[in-house]
Amino acid sequence: MSGAIRIAAAGPGDAADIAALHALCFEAGWDGAAIADILAMPGAFALVAEWPQADDVLYVGFVLARAAAGEAEILSIGVAPAARGAGLGLVLLEAAIVRAIAMGAQALFLEVADDNHPAVGLYEKRGFARVGSRPGYYARSDGAASALVMRLDLE
Ligand SMILES: CC(C)(COP(=O)(O)OP(=O)(O)OC[C@H]1O[C@@H](n2cnc3c(N)ncnc32)[C@H](O)[C@@H]1OP(=O)(O)O)[C@@H](O)C(=O)NCCC(=O)NCCS
Repeated sequence: MSGAIRIAAAGPGDAADIAALHALCFEAGWDGAAIADILAMPGAFALVAEWPQADDVLYVGFVLARAAAGEAEILSIGVAPAARGAGLGLVLLEAAIVRAIAMGAQALFLEVADDNHPAVGLYEKRGFARVGSRPGYYARSDGAASALVMRLDLE
């Protein structure tokens, strides 16, 4: 039997579990040490979507972000493939926005590959605007993709 998915704060002790989920979401996964290093940065935080099971808790989504000096950045966000398309990405993004505002951020930035249609769709749905582009930023087996820089005004 399993319970409802809930959003919870995560810490350096959760880095290995977040890394396992990150590896399901990205071709170039970040290992636990890399995620622990991120979480050690000033203003960095992680939120996870937890799905309680009878004797365990599965992580089905995560967001890593950082807020400092009035600005925040989404560093990474992912939802387990089997849990996509059910609104969880938007819930995680919203939770990160609430946390960034609470930490004093007035704007939230992110970078996303311009061919990552699910992610660009998610950010545009939440009101992010395209404010820049970094051509050739992401290496691809068949070339390179540009990074879009996106911004959400939090004021
Ligand atoms: C991007 C990601 C986090 C979205 O998570 P999700 O839980 O599936 O997203 P949601 O169900 O909350 O969808 C919210 C909105 O995002 C957009 N979206 C989600 N999946 C989409 C898809 N496959 N194609 C186009 N738009 C999509 C839609 O606007 C959607 O709203 P709608 O359902 O009303 O149409 C997920 O696809 C993922 O983990 N991708 C791999 C990791 C990644 O690329 N992260 C972003 C790096 S910048």
